[in-house]
Amino acid sequence: MFERPGCSTDCPYLPPRSGALDFPIGQVRRLAAAREAGDDVDETRRNVLKLAGVGALVLAGGGLGAASIQYVQPPTIGLSSYPKTQLVDVDGKPLTVKSVETEYDVTANSLYLFNYPLRNEPNFFLNLAPANGQAPSDSNPGAWNVPGGVGTHGSIVAFSAICQHLGCPAPAIAYYPPGQCPGKTFNTPNSSVQPFYIHCSCHGSTYDPANAASNLTGPAVLPLPQVTLVTDVNGNIFATSLTGPPVNGHLNSLQGDYGVGGTSQLVKETPVILCQFPS
Ligand code: FES
Repeated sequence: MFERPGCSTDCPYLPPRSGALDFPIGQVRRLAAAREAGDDVDETRRNVLKLAGVGALVLAGGGLGAASIQYVQPPTIGLSSYPKTQLVDVDGKPLTVKSVETEYDVTANSLYLFNYPLRNEPNFFLNLAPANGQAPSDSNPGAWNVPGGVGTHGSIVAFSAICQHLGCPAPAIAYYPPGQCPGKTFNTPNSSVQPFYIHCSCHGSTYDPANAASNLTGPAVLPLPQVTLVTDVNGNIFATSLTGPPVNGHLNSLQGDYGVGGTSQLVKETPVILCQFPS
C-alpha cells in the first residue's frame, strides 16, 4: 500500500495498489512502427498479462513488492551493444542542430518521442533553449550547457520516457514547459522563475531535464536514463548509448525487444498534464 503523510489514498498520483498494477510495468506500445503499419498490437497488454503471474508470485512471496517487480523483463531478446542511430524528424527528414534550434525550444507543449536502442524504449527529445534564442535568465526560461547537451549552446538532450518508479510510459510521464503549473517552483531559487520539468502523473515523480533528469520529487529515487547524443560535421544528430540506470522494466537497456536499427523517427504525442504533486 502506498501512503504518504498528508495525502489520502485517492490522490491522483497515489492510486491504490491494485490501481498501480493496472499501469504498464516498464513495457510500452511499439510507438511509431506499429502505428505506421496500422498494426494495433498492444505490447502493453500482452506484457502485463505475462508479468501478472510473476508479480502475483512476488507479492504472494511477501515483502519484495514494486521495487522487485519493476525489473522483471520479457524473454531475452535484444542487442549486444549500443547502435549509432540517426534521429529523424516527424516529417521524415534528418534532425540537425539547425532544424532543432529553429523548430524546438523549451516552450514545447507537445511530446516528441523516439525509440532507442530498443523498439519498446521511448525517449523524450528536448531542446531546453529559450524560445527567443537569447541567453536563459530569470525572466527568460530555458537552459544552456546542460549535462550531455549538444547543439550550439548544449541545450539539446534526450531522456528515457519510462518512469523510474513503476514504469509508467509517456504520455503519462510528460515534459512540462515553463509556467505549466503556476506556483510549482521545485528547486528554482527564485519563485518568479518559471521552471520546467518532467513529471509523471501516475504517482508524482518529477525529474529535472536541465540536470541529467535527477529526481526533484519521488516516489522514484533514480534519475531517468539519458541518451548520449552526438552530432556530425553536418549537424546531423545521432543517439549512441544510454547512461544512468537501466530503463525501467529491463534488466539492462539492451535486452527486452528488438533494436530500432539505423534510424529512429520522432513521433508527436499529447502529454498528460496533471498539476498535482506530492507535498
Ligand atoms: S510510475 Fe509511479 S511516479 Fe511514475
